[in-house]
Amino acid sequence: MDVTKVVIPAAGLGTRFLPITKSVPKEMLPLLEKPAIQYIVEEALAGSLRNIFFITSRGKESLSDYFDASLQLDLLLHEQQQKSKLAVVQELESIRRQANFAYIRQHEPLGLGHAVLMAQPCIGKEYFGVMLPDDIIMGKDSGIGALIRIARQEKASVIAVQEVPASCISSYGIVGIKKQITPNLCQVSQVVEKPNPEDAPSNLAIVGRYILSSKIFASLEEVGSFAEGELQLTEGIAHMIRNGEKVFAYKIPGMRYDVGTPIGWLKAILGIAMQHPYYAKHMASILAELNTANSLLYNSSKAIEHSL
Ligand code: G1P
Repeated sequence: MDVTKVVIPAAGLGTRFLPITKSVPKEMLPLLEKPAIQYIVEEALAGSLRNIFFITSRGKESLSDYFDASLQLDLLLHEQQQKSKLAVVQELESIRRQANFAYIRQHEPLGLGHAVLMAQPCIGKEYFGVMLPDDIIMGKDSGIGALIRIARQEKASVIAVQEVPASCISSYGIVGIKKQITPNLCQVSQVVEKPNPEDAPSNLAIVGRYILSSKIFASLEEVGSFAEGELQLTEGIAHMIRNGEKVFAYKIPGMRYDVGTPIGWLKAILGIAMQHPYYAKHMASILAELNTANSLLYNSSKAIEHSL
């Protein structure tokens, strides 16, 4: 099984991150010095997915600009011999050399299932990856790469899952277990989009990485013809399972951050900095300094309050 293509749906309006997303795509928000989308592309390439199809919408042009060459900037840095900055440009150059990027416009926000369906003409009859850029997964190895290995082994679709507490179940697609294969791998009996915790088939939440059979497209088309409002990818996967397709769920190792919300983004920056060879060295002193500064501020405002 050859898997070389990945669909990255990046057409969402980013309303959970307003007002910044009025003019900056949420995928371009920085996690330290790199935009969130670069972590996704690096994970895809580390998993040997070189053909990258972004689903975009109006206002997302900075994504294609970012991965494009910038002759003016390259020239300037070469002239000025700014070695450290050149290294950053070369990193992007290396991504450009390895990847083929294509951009597909989703004209209306009709849901994740509809976004994936837009890539059908580019995928053909192959297995392919889907990576949701709100989910940043930091592990030892490429998360999507691990899913590809399992898809090859089982010759079937695979979804990444992680256990979540009951209070978070209604924010995710949740899988039901048909057969436990190993402690981290099971065959899926059903998938339900954002159920109430009391109706959920398990606490295994889908975390934005999928390897899917191209049969998903027929399922999405069929489910979509009845759908009112948004078409969910989960509904297409549920339809494939009902049609007798095997789908597996793999408990993906690594730390997952939901960078689609300000709190998740803050956690991601702190978490990534703590693992970073350069920023980690500064984290303890930054936090200590902020703590002291905040407590001083707090105390002085108390003092002002008392003196009034
Ligand atoms: C989407 C999927 C959901 C999945 C989640 C992971 O939901 O529809 O099944 O669990 O991503 O982040 P969203 O968060 O876009 O509402």
